[in-house]
Amino acid sequence: MGKLIHFAELNSTNTYLKENFAALADKTVVSADIQTAGRGRFNRQWISQKGGLYFSILLKPTQTDYIVNLTQLMALSICKAIEDLGAKPTIKWPNDVQLNGKKICGILSETITQQNGIACVIVGAGVNVAQRDVSYVGQPAISLREAGIFIDPDILLPSILNHFWQKYDQVLSQGFASLREEYKKRFPYLGKVISVKNGTADATGTVTDISAKGTLLLNADNGLEEILIGDLIV
Ligand code: BTN
Repeated sequence: MGKLIHFAELNSTNTYLKENFAALADKTVVSADIQTAGRGRFNRQWISQKGGLYFSILLKPTQTDYIVNLTQLMALSICKAIEDLGAKPTIKWPNDVQLNGKKICGILSETITQQNGIACVIVGAGVNVAQRDVSYVGQPAISLREAGIFIDPDILLPSILNHFWQKYDQVLSQGFASLREEYKKRFPYLGKVISVKNGTADATGTVTDISAKGTLLLNADNGLEEILIGDLIV
């Protein structure tokens, strides 16, 4: 476990680590009570009001073959921490966590490369924890509090980190294969017809599996498709 840096207010915990990674140690965690310029996937904004948990981890792994799967490890870790509170969250591939079918968490991973390769990976997560109302999110969303679970974001964070560090080395050396069974158990869309949007090529079909690489396998109109990234429309 690395050093934890906490801010009452920050533009974005991911941006902070992007700007300061060179001076910070591997496994540093940054959290903030409020973000004024929180960022989501596909350049979306992540509104970050007080009551939510906003944090990012700085990682400087020496083995980088499986860094794409760290996002899925974070989704699984957040699921497990919420399960410890007695709830039954699910994972919406690749890395959203849902509770009662509504979004409770989003994860944004960013990789910084330099001339000599990958300098670091930043895994940032926003969890709806104690907000009274998350209707400002542009899709069905819920907070733990709205689901009747009262917990402080500062208490939830160490629990998520524990789950994350427990599997971290294994994911770096073995990739998604080391998460696959646990991940699939929490993925409710196997056998369901879904659409995936990723900006350029959208696809619709029946989900047949999550592969050993962590990609989504879809039986689509023009055959079996392997989806690397995208947003599930369910
Ligand atoms: C998404 O679902 O689009 C991903 C949202 C990720 C939000 C988190 S909050 C902490 C970290 N800092 C950011 O600016 N974004 C991530």
